[in-house]
Amino acid sequence: MPGLLFPEGFIWGAATSAYQIEGGHDSDGKGESVWDRFTHTSSKILNHDTGDIACDHYHLFEKDIALMKELGVGSYRFSISWPRIFPDGRGKPNQKGLDFYRNLARLLAGNGIQPAVTLYHWDLPQKLQDLGGWENREIIDDFEMYARTVFEALGDDVPIWMTLNEPWVSSFVGNWYGGHPPALTDFPTALKVAHHLLLAHGKAVRAFREMQMKGEIGIALNLNPVYPASEDEQDLAAARRYGDYNNGWFLDPIFKGNYPAELSGWLSERLTLPEFSAEDMSLIHTPIDFLGVNTYASSSILHDPGDWPLQLRSARTGKARTHSGWEIYPEGLYDLLQYLHAEYGGIKMMITENGAAFKDRLEEDGKVEDDERLVYLYDHISQAHRAIRDGVNLSGYYVWSLLDNFEWNLGYSRRFGLVYVDFATQERTIKKSGWWYKRVIENNRLVAG
Ligand code: FCB
Repeated sequence: MPGLLFPEGFIWGAATSAYQIEGGHDSDGKGESVWDRFTHTSSKILNHDTGDIACDHYHLFEKDIALMKELGVGSYRFSISWPRIFPDGRGKPNQKGLDFYRNLARLLAGNGIQPAVTLYHWDLPQKLQDLGGWENREIIDDFEMYARTVFEALGDDVPIWMTLNEPWVSSFVGNWYGGHPPALTDFPTALKVAHHLLLAHGKAVRAFREMQMKGEIGIALNLNPVYPASEDEQDLAAARRYGDYNNGWFLDPIFKGNYPAELSGWLSERLTLPEFSAEDMSLIHTPIDFLGVNTYASSSILHDPGDWPLQLRSARTGKARTHSGWEIYPEGLYDLLQYLHAEYGGIKMMITENGAAFKDRLEEDGKVEDDERLVYLYDHISQAHRAIRDGVNLSGYYVWSLLDNFEWNLGYSRRFGLVYVDFATQERTIKKSGWWYKRVIENNRLVAG
């Protein structure tokens, strides 16, 4: 059979997150999250969309597991809503919340689908935000308590764990660009938040080891292949800074025990860095089992003296873009994986998110012919294969996303799913890319569309 064969045991998955699909925003004792509050009160969400109902997965999860079974998905990456477990952020856990995820994990496992759980995909309990959220160092202990509670409840059923999803986004989009809650625009605060997120990650990993959990634990970072916009010295330096900012600021502490030196030096000439004690750095540096790579687009970077404090910006290139405006450059995936492999000592990796938004249409014949997505996925999976062939330790690939869902500030306007969701009726339709992905999984091989 033609097509690129993947190593035996390669994990083929699909990913979602709690706020983006669950709905049931106040069901069964769930507390308010910062995203509930933000979507209800901010003007920063397209069409004033909210996740109140989303894909109603909280009530339809059995149907969604049946869909995964149909697709043959080997692993499902989902996140836990922290305020479903701790409605008040602290205190007594909500048994109904724990039961929901236990039932979900068991039903997945019973259907031969490995649950891959992310503890935190941005939906902080509002009650903790009221105490200062990630800016308040106390949150590290709250996160540890939450992590221990979930490990205890789901440990027997979950083989793959991730502490945080894209802490760069929580830190910088939430506290510097002001796009996500708490919608601040203060760079030093974003650095402090990043540090606390990393510490919370380290604490949860230590708790996982202490509790002698079976399974593996890692973290999912948003990582981009970065290229300078020109060979100009200043653009080269700006591209290095961007790499340190977007990728290295989280990778280096976790895998090397320090923040990137060049960018730390640059920033300390322009602002006061938070204190990073040796003890903190050693906690963050606690060994993990795998790196989760969330990756979508490449970045072409140039020097921009008007931009404080980083003095850089993205250049527009002639590359094709998705409906989200993200540059399509599949070779970038290969470059990124090679870079991570070389820079961080051959660490085991999984692609925990990759995919694309396109303007899908449900046709009258009931089909969704999303050829652009199919080609996007084909090209990226092909680069993943090339990386494996060249020695990169990549053990899995998760498509973002299983379902069309709530795409944060863009609401329901951007569809990423292998499965089309009609948000008025909650009807699901497997798209052409979904049927194709099923054949890839069945054959463990990249087959033509
Ligand atoms: C990532 C997020 C995920 C989804 C995709 C499109 O940054 O982790 O929740 O929104 O982008």
